[in-house]
Amino acid sequence: MGERLAVDGGKPVRTKPFPKERKVGERELKEVAEALESAWLFRWSGSKVAAFERAFAQRHGVPYGVACTSGTAAIHLAIAALQLEPGDEIITAPITDVGTVAPILKEGGIPLFADVDPETGNMDPEKAKQLISERTKAILVVHLAGNPCDLGAFENLAKEKGLILIEDCAQAHLAEYHGRLVGTIGHIGCFSLQQSKHIVTGDGGISITADEELATKMALFMDKGWDRGSGTPHRVYKILGLNYRMNELTGAVALAQMERLDLVVSERRKRGDRLSQLISECRFVKPQKVLDGCQHSYWHYQLLVQREAPFTADDFAQALQAEGIPCGARYIGKPIFLCHDAITNKRIFGHSSFPFDHNPRQVVYNESTCPIAQDYLSRLVVLPLHEFLSEEEITDMAQAIIKVDRNLRR
Ligand SMILES: Cc1ncc(COP(=O)(O)O)c(C=O)c1O
Repeated sequence: MGERLAVDGGKPVRTKPFPKERKVGERELKEVAEALESAWLFRWSGSKVAAFERAFAQRHGVPYGVACTSGTAAIHLAIAALQLEPGDEIITAPITDVGTVAPILKEGGIPLFADVDPETGNMDPEKAKQLISERTKAILVVHLAGNPCDLGAFENLAKEKGLILIEDCAQAHLAEYHGRLVGTIGHIGCFSLQQSKHIVTGDGGISITADEELATKMALFMDKGWDRGSGTPHRVYKILGLNYRMNELTGAVALAQMERLDLVVSERRKRGDRLSQLISECRFVKPQKVLDGCQHSYWHYQLLVQREAPFTADDFAQALQAEGIPCGARYIGKPIFLCHDAITNKRIFGHSSFPFDHNPRQVVYNESTCPIAQDYLSRLVVLPLHEFLSEEEITDMAQAIIKVDRNLRR
């Protein structure tokens, strides 16, 4: 006889609530107070945003960082720096936030979605290769949940085909691929500082690069395209940019957060790796696979319900919640292009077909576009995992996962 599950009226593994993340304190207060005392909250001629950009770039060992207002903005800077022709193609991942995709479309580009590896949920380099055409300008990879994708393969592919490689690291601060930090292997790395991320400013973002020309274009786009150093009596705008400037209050928080970054990631890594070790005996659920030589940074923890399991991801999540463990099933639910009618129907600019009418390729976003991604999402259970969880909480999570794995039959 197995143990009675809480969802069937048994005793839950845990009744105590989990601790909340609390990621701002004295250090942030001090930096913000300095910014306020200066009475200058604009990034130009201020010190905080510039100091954050230097610190973030330096931590990644690259010369340039351009701060901005969100992860979406960080990706927009990267895409804008490519100066696309209407209808140019960018190959990207189907399991992501819409912030990865919207900037491509807003810049008149066409996102093509490469299907994923069935065990990591990350874009499969072979699938990406099959999509490359003479209109392809870049590959935009996403490190899902903090788990590095097969960056070496993407790096080689981009080199071989003369493409720009952009890394969406919104969920993957300080994740590593064979000892190299994500965001530094592609030409541009884009990060989010939104409230749920490893370091937070409420909203914010930064793009990093080692390429001076790309850095200049991103910095111009961030500031309405304004060339402030032109030295002419009239304004000179070099790119049709937007206003994505980070202000000094946000910069002050971001700068303070830099002192937390390494600890946040190493503590999450310990907990995530420990949880994977504790649940290694499970038969029907497996952790998201981490590629050899990679270090996950655990934005959240992904569990995959195996195909032969006698339950669905929804059943599993419901049973785990009943055991007192916060979790959810299926993350975004469907590949991102099926989550947004405007994208699915290719109606981006009013009723026109722009930019799809600038490319002879018949682009289709439907259920058959990325079947592996669809399957991955349907079997996915997501658990919050962060640096404020104690050893006891990780053990409770593991115990509950093992209990449900052994006893759930639906
Ligand atoms: C993979 C990915 N890319 C981009 C974004 C967009 O970031 P933001 O919400 O800061 O605009 C997110 C946000 O969750 C994300 O998870």
